Amino acid sequence: MNDQQLLDLVKQMTREEKIAQLLQLTGAFYEGFHDKELLTGPRAELGVSEETVNASGSALNLSGAKTAIQVQETYLKKNRLGIPLLIMADVVHGYKTIFPIPLAIGCSWDLPLAEQSAEIAARESAVSGIHVTFSPMVDLVRDPRWGRVMESTGEDPFLNSLYARAFVRGYQGQDLKGDKERLAACVKHFAAYGAPEGGREYNTVDMSERNLRESYLPGYKAAVEEGATMVMASFNTVDGIPASGNEKLMRGILRGEWGFDGVIISDWASIREMIAHGASEDDREAALRAIRAGIDIEMMTPCYVHHLDDLVNEGEIEENQIDEAVLRILQLKEKLGLFEQPHRAADPERENEVILSADHRKAAYELAVKSSVLLKNDGTLPLRAHSKVALVGPYAETNSILGWWSCEGNPQDATPLAPALRERMQEGKLSVASCGIETITGGELADMLEATESADVLVVALGEAAEMSGEGAARTNIQLPKAQLELVRRLKATGKPLAAVLFNGRPLDLAGLFEEADAVLEAWFPGTEGGAAIADLLLGRVNPSGRLSMSFPQSVGQVPVYYNHYSTGRPLKAGSDERYVSKYIDSPNEPLLPFGFGLSYTSFEYGELLVSSDRMTKEEPLTVQVTVTNTGQRAGIETVQLYVRDLSGEVVRPVRELKAFTRLSLQPGESGTAVFTLHEEQLRYHHSDLSFTSDPGAFRLYAGPNSRDTQEVAFQLIT
Ligand code: NOJ
Repeated sequence: MNDQQLLDLVKQMTREEKIAQLLQLTGAFYEGFHDKELLTGPRAELGVSEETVNASGSALNLSGAKTAIQVQETYLKKNRLGIPLLIMADVVHGYKTIFPIPLAIGCSWDLPLAEQSAEIAARESAVSGIHVTFSPMVDLVRDPRWGRVMESTGEDPFLNSLYARAFVRGYQGQDLKGDKERLAACVKHFAAYGAPEGGREYNTVDMSERNLRESYLPGYKAAVEEGATMVMASFNTVDGIPASGNEKLMRGILRGEWGFDGVIISDWASIREMIAHGASEDDREAALRAIRAGIDIEMMTPCYVHHLDDLVNEGEIEENQIDEAVLRILQLKEKLGLFEQPHRAADPERENEVILSADHRKAAYELAVKSSVLLKNDGTLPLRAHSKVALVGPYAETNSILGWWSCEGNPQDATPLAPALRERMQEGKLSVASCGIETITGGELADMLEATESADVLVVALGEAAEMSGEGAARTNIQLPKAQLELVRRLKATGKPLAAVLFNGRPLDLAGLFEEADAVLEAWFPGTEGGAAIADLLLGRVNPSGRLSMSFPQSVGQVPVYYNHYSTGRPLKAGSDERYVSKYIDSPNEPLLPFGFGLSYTSFEYGELLVSSDRMTKEEPLTVQVTVTNTGQRAGIETVQLYVRDLSGEVVRPVRELKAFTRLSLQPGESGTAVFTLHEEQLRYHHSDLSFTSDPGAFRLYAGPNSRDTQEVAFQLIT
């Protein structure tokens, strides 16, 4: 259908039908998901009629080809104009083949693989009846207390934007109509949901517009530029106004400045939540604020269905505000090809073919390998072939390694670490004993200590439970559970080399582990193929290459701690013990592990950092290059990172900003050269009047293996 035909369709709809089109409900409201008699409960609870449900425009949390087909069929029988139901779900890091959590993917710095993970997630979900995913989540994060950092790719606006684009491309492909095994992508949570005060879930976000534009908006903007078809409004306030009623954000920035013409959806109940925020007196006012702001779909509350009609009758809004929202939703349905094929790609046979296919598992394995970050190693890793190994701890044998937001992922499809290691080791070389996450019984401890007795080297698999991160899981203490730290103490007392593997959803405060362990491998929640990937990494069959995309603090007291901070007027100089400088008296300023950090089993040596000139102009970019040699015994990947600092901005600039990176894959003895071109555009930033320009003057360039250990060169920008 072309736009004119869609407009004609809108004209044929009654006002009630149009308003119902703006409502999104969970699968539990629809026949085919539940039997008819089970539907009255949810309807009564929400206060919506059967007619409204039958005309509602979209559903969430409904999947499985058979169910989706049944729901669509019964729905269409009752829908007067035959407008198909749009089906959405949180496919965040895989559908059934589960990839590492997004924060882990962020540490891969491997954009093609990130894109492939989204493509696979789309294929599995599309054949299971889903049309839209509530992903990518591109909220910039600086506070590991917030449980949802696991859903983000990290603390850097540039890197996050690259991932945002890769995920959108992977989900959507080139043509959602022609390629039915793709999903429309809904980027979220617009805006700045990643900066809740104190890291507490759903909390206030308050920042300058400049900071918002500089650090927090680029990820969403990149996703929109890449063609994301939907945007989700966030739960939080932005400058005192809840996003769900924030006209400046939705109509001003998103639609006006960025030209976004897709569908905007609220978050779950976030329109009604404007009452609790103190921004609306009742559902009616909440509906008014939301529709004025430009929210097209209301998720899981009935403010629109109960009040938009009156709001038009009372002259508070124009009917065409509703029509516009409806048209956009119908355009999305058309874009997905739903009018011709209401079941789209839903197909039980295809489900059997593609879900958890060997190819999908292989990609999940590769991404789990690339996402793991070696945080410390004195040579204990990789494990030697002849060594006797004891594998102990809460994550030794469990298959609960998928992490939060794992959609339809089933832990039973994941292999735990112990069997994966056993399969790869000689018989009799591995002893295993495990325990609980927060409590360790006397029996469990005794078994674990016994397992260590005949071992040459100990591997302790530690971490947070999956539900300790994700939505609704903010923590003020981000250490490992006490019982696990006690276990580390007991293992350390054996005097045997100790390697730790961490399964977690946020950068942790590693006090009580980092010093004690001889090696630490950050596995995050590695997904379906995590066991195999971590086993291969521990045994050195593959070489770790992940780099942190979020800093690890020394302690929670430092939070927020991130690499691209400002300098202050009294920065702390290395080695100085001066009192009146910006510092803590009981902690270093620097994080334990900085952004970009990660080790390898091989070693890399950097040559001199070479720059084509010490002057840059608008017409003459700089060429920056550095040669890196693999000086170790194994093949490895080195991620060379390029940072800049503007030494004198109209507005102060971060001490470092990532501008480019490249991954060099080098054989032992091999050298490779990272070559970057740095243009004047890359030095532009938001000034105090929000103009986006560069400042002439002194700059510094840094290149190296992470944001801390760099070589530097000075240059001048001449404009
Ligand atoms: C609330 C979450 O904030 C959002 O990310 C998610 O997509 C919706 N619930 C739907 O499940």
